[in-house]
Amino acid sequence: MNTIRVQVPATSANCGPGFDCLGLALNLYNIFSFTPNSDAKEFTYTFTGYGAELLEQEDPKTNLIGIAIEQVFAKAQEPIQYGHITSDTLIPPSRGLGSSSTAIVGGLLLANQLVSTPLSKEELLVIANRMEGHPDNVAPAIYGNLCCATGLKDRVLNTVIPVPETLCFAVVVPEVLVSTEYARSVLPNHVPFKEAVQNVSHASLFVTSLITNQLDNLSIALEDNLHVPYRKTLIPYCDEVFAAAKATGAYGATISGSGSTLIAYADKEHVKNVADAMGQVFSLHGIDNKVYILVADTKGATTI
Ligand code: HSE
Repeated sequence: MNTIRVQVPATSANCGPGFDCLGLALNLYNIFSFTPNSDAKEFTYTFTGYGAELLEQEDPKTNLIGIAIEQVFAKAQEPIQYGHITSDTLIPPSRGLGSSSTAIVGGLLLANQLVSTPLSKEELLVIANRMEGHPDNVAPAIYGNLCCATGLKDRVLNTVIPVPETLCFAVVVPEVLVSTEYARSVLPNHVPFKEAVQNVSHASLFVTSLITNQLDNLSIALEDNLHVPYRKTLIPYCDEVFAAAKATGAYGATISGSGSTLIAYADKEHVKNVADAMGQVFSLHGIDNKVYILVADTKGATTI
């Protein structure tokens, strides 16, 4: 049987004030392949790239790619096809760039090539949201662009908005591990009403500013009261990095997903200086980091 290959984009969830609903796809990809084997009774794996040694040690039965493949066959009411999976991780894992969502979406897309009636993107998003628990990484991983997603009991409402072509992203990944579980545990149970209201206005301003290409608004629209103030404490020198981004011409900067990656929104002319300045803050404090200059992915997960 032929091998199927897919690429799935990294995603930057929350986009500042859009906690658990806004997410952006970026042009950095994890690559997954699947070779079905009619004699196989389980999935076997080969891992390369970031975190390969750790993934090799995990119980293969807990791997999200295989679980996602099973979900598609179950939904399509067809017998599961097992075989060999390869995972090439180019997106740093556990850093707030949606790496685990790529495994889910990758598995869904691989299996969707094999079922006789492929599921729609909407159906895949419902499964992905159920597996991930929130839709703001999986929606842009499936659709590309900026997604505004609301998970309901058995469906997900999702709108897809193109990102202005002039908008670039300076993405700095420090050698600081923050698990999403821990980053969610530091969030408060209540926030002051005024702060919640401000978040609604910032999130609305963020989305409409991208639609109308009023990117200067992002300096305010990226400000958040729901998670950034609490999670900043988990990322050393976070405020210094944000200040460096703004000082070198970024529209604004925020935490990507649950961190530790920090992302600045900037135009083409400034993005390199912004990225260098952000990385330098970590380097000066002795924290290894990787710097990426990215643009929005416009296609979402695709076969390659
Ligand atoms: N919205 C999620 C969070 C994204 O910030 O916890 C991380 O998966």
